[in-house]
Amino acid sequence: MDTQEIKLDALNAETFIEDQVKAIREAVREGFAVNALSGGVDSSVVTLIGHRALGDRLKTYFIENGLMREGEAQQIVEVFKTLGVTVEVIDAKDKFFAALAGLTDPEQKRDKGITQVFYKDVFGELVRNCGAGVLLQGTIFTDVEETIAGIKRQHNILSQLGIDTQATYGYKVVEPVIQLRKPAVRVVGKALGLPEEMFTRPPFPGPALATRVIGEVTPERVTLVRAATVIVEAELCDSGAFQYMAILHEDKVTGMRDGKRDYGYQIEVRCWDSTDAVTATPTDVPFALLRKIADRITTEVPGVVSVTYNIAPKPPSCIEAV
Ligand code: XMP
Repeated sequence: MDTQEIKLDALNAETFIEDQVKAIREAVREGFAVNALSGGVDSSVVTLIGHRALGDRLKTYFIENGLMREGEAQQIVEVFKTLGVTVEVIDAKDKFFAALAGLTDPEQKRDKGITQVFYKDVFGELVRNCGAGVLLQGTIFTDVEETIAGIKRQHNILSQLGIDTQATYGYKVVEPVIQLRKPAVRVVGKALGLPEEMFTRPPFPGPALATRVIGEVTPERVTLVRAATVIVEAELCDSGAFQYMAILHEDKVTGMRDGKRDYGYQIEVRCWDSTDAVTATPTDVPFALLRKIADRITTEVPGVVSVTYNIAPKPPSCIEAV
């Protein structure tokens, strides 16, 4: 692979930021650029580097794909307002759900359901409308590595797979943090003045809750996993874990409620210790806390009768289920 990693101990955040500001200015020249901010550490860092480089010539969008967590759009718009960055929310829910309908294979869900809609339909149109020639995005070193290794096609890997974004989508893609792994991105985020709760946020994948719905991704099924996510995040946010999540299984299982059979949904909880997402081990969550999570999910999320905890490490498991 051509991309060279900048290791954490070799990183000088200020010099790195200056270099990336320069590279962005060179790529965009006198023109405009766009970027998608999901509120994760990577896209937040790219947003701030991009605004340092281009000011108002960078248009930042939050793509509401219908797959985000509860209240995410509003929260991110507010945080970035305090940092002097205007974020426009684009409602693209219908486009994503239409593309995801009927897809159950993980790679097809990422490619047809997310990548194509994101880069071709949503950004293709935004770029045409505002006349931008460049998309800035927060691809990191681990994303490239996993895709090249054939583990998983991360939704944001394009040129490394031989895709000419100019010819295919009509714009160039610039990736300021592609040489960094997550811990290094956090250091750069701190140096840029991101609030601590933003640069220490657990990772959240670009395809969002679609990576946590096994089988078809429908608005109803996303609503279920979103409600379970609120509970899992509230209960595990003080665990010190690298990442934690709720996953909706495809199969239903037999349960019982009020003395009657209830054929309902299964939620799997995952909580990971890791430094860079390359390998991970399940966190030793106290059993009483797991029981509390199960009780809350089965009473607060309609139709859920089973809650499991994943105890297999990565590898052979992966952090996300899809
Ligand atoms: P996996 O599931 O591959 O996840 O063990 C490793 C890390 O990457 C995140 N992840 C993604 N991030 N697009 C992203 O931007 C994706 O398609 C994607 N898939 C996984 C995951 O949350 C974890 O931190």
